[in-house]
Amino acid sequence: MIKISPSILAADFANLQRDIERISAADYVHVDVMDGLFVPNISIGIPVVKAIRPTTRLPLDVHLMIDRPVRYVEQFCDAGADIVTVHVESDSEEGTHEALRRIHAKGKKAGIVLKPKTPASAALPFINEVEMILVMTVEPGFGGQKFMADMMPKVQEIRRYIDAMNPTCELEVDGGVDPKTAPLCIHSGANVLVAGSAVYKADDIPGRIAQLRG
Ligand code: DX5
Ligand code: ZN
Repeated sequence: MIKISPSILAADFANLQRDIERISAADYVHVDVMDGLFVPNISIGIPVVKAIRPTTRLPLDVHLMIDRPVRYVEQFCDAGADIVTVHVESDSEEGTHEALRRIHAKGKKAGIVLKPKTPASAALPFINEVEMILVMTVEPGFGGQKFMADMMPKVQEIRRYIDAMNPTCELEVDGGVDPKTAPLCIHSGANVLVAGSAVYKADDIPGRIAQLRG
């Protein structure tokens, strides 16, 4: 069963509660956190995660695009994140292990994220410590970018690792996912699709969510 995680980066921030209610047919709420250092953009942070937590029953899928996330993961968990993903490029291997450990110590699900230029093999040191692996299909930092179809072999490679080593781990893709590109992701083995623009620009949001599931 394919899960959809709409990115609220594409929502109307002045009407966030309304726009989160509009995606109640989805499986997760994807929250993009950017610090202006790890990526060249600044989005939302801990107080916003805390504020939106009571507005939905869906799990909050919090994607940290921040430098050395180990410094903040516990605060995101306390604010109400259910799944916290950290980029393998944002700290040393040790720092990433420690971030995953701290997320688990808070009773939450932990995941790693790979930027487009990062090879699938970068997931291997962490594969037995995560409940989710997120493969970026755009350069992180902005919504509304073009889907990188050349990431599909990487998704397939990670699907093989997951099936062999940690079969319950979720495989998520993020960036440029729309009704045309979603089937490529699903065919390559992804089971969670993040979609910002494709969900929030749709006239019929529940219909679009169903369409993306395939
Ligand atoms: C990009 C973010 C994505 C983004 C996706 O850095 O991680 O989650 O919001 O937006 P779309 O679906 O519009 O590409
Ligand atoms: Zn994201």
